[in-house]
Amino acid sequence: MSTNGEQLPLTVALSKGRIFRETLPLLARAGIEVHGDPESSRKLVLQTSVADVRLLILRASDVPTYVEYGAADLGVAGKDVLMEHGGAGLYEPLDLGIARCRLMTAAREGAVMPDGRLRVATKYINTTRRFFASRGQQVELIKLYGSMELAPVLGLADCIVDVVDTGSTLRANGLEPLEHVADISSRLIVNKVAFKTRNQRVRDFIDALRQAVTAAGTAPAAAEE
Ligand code: ATP
Ligand code: PRP
Repeated sequence: MSTNGEQLPLTVALSKGRIFRETLPLLARAGIEVHGDPESSRKLVLQTSVADVRLLILRASDVPTYVEYGAADLGVAGKDVLMEHGGAGLYEPLDLGIARCRLMTAAREGAVMPDGRLRVATKYINTTRRFFASRGQQVELIKLYGSMELAPVLGLADCIVDVVDTGSTLRANGLEPLEHVADISSRLIVNKVAFKTRNQRVRDFIDALRQAVTAAGTAPAAAEE
């Protein structure tokens, strides 16, 4: 068994779809070509052109959990997912500037919000509770796992908290964005123990990706957030 961990593979967790698609060019710029495509293969572990770097393909909301417990050394996750997770056991050293959107409240077009307790449907329960609590507003939270836009239409909730990019999903369902909760982009995250025990290897990986982000021009403006 390795004593310093340097011989172990560097394991990077991410989700398929948007995050995989947008991370791939950054990895390529960092000299890492991925072997395989999660859209066409059932493989959940992908090897790369760099012998000691492998990728895990996970549900987006599971990425911080794998990294927190050290099952992955690093990961790529949306800030929405990280805010909801809480960030225990993780460092967040790099904004990749990809999968950009906004976390918003939204309701039926022209709907008047009730005076009393607001019913809010969302998959972002913790973030939503914090957002309304910071404004001193009491809410009843309804946990959903997807298709949040339906909840106000069917009267399940007064409003939702969800990610918005072009706004076309809201419009297509007769909803309008109301309040801005947070700007979202995907972040590189690192297990805190791996950062200490495999410091040089992890730092090299972060530096290579940082350079790739700079070269790609996806880096956010410094003042954002
Ligand atoms: P799960 O399948 O686990 O429910 P998900 O459906 O949220 O996850 P994706 O749709 O791939 O997974 O989204 C991954 C991340 O991309 C989100 O966490 C968010 O940060 C960002 N994102 C989501 N929707 C958009 C969008 N329309 N435009 C840009 N970025 C988005
Ligand atoms: C995401 C999100 C919103 C939509 C917002 O869905 O869940 O519904 O994007 O983007 P828009 O403002 O440009 O319409 P996505 O298309 O990723 O589908 P999914 O959540 O089912 O993966």
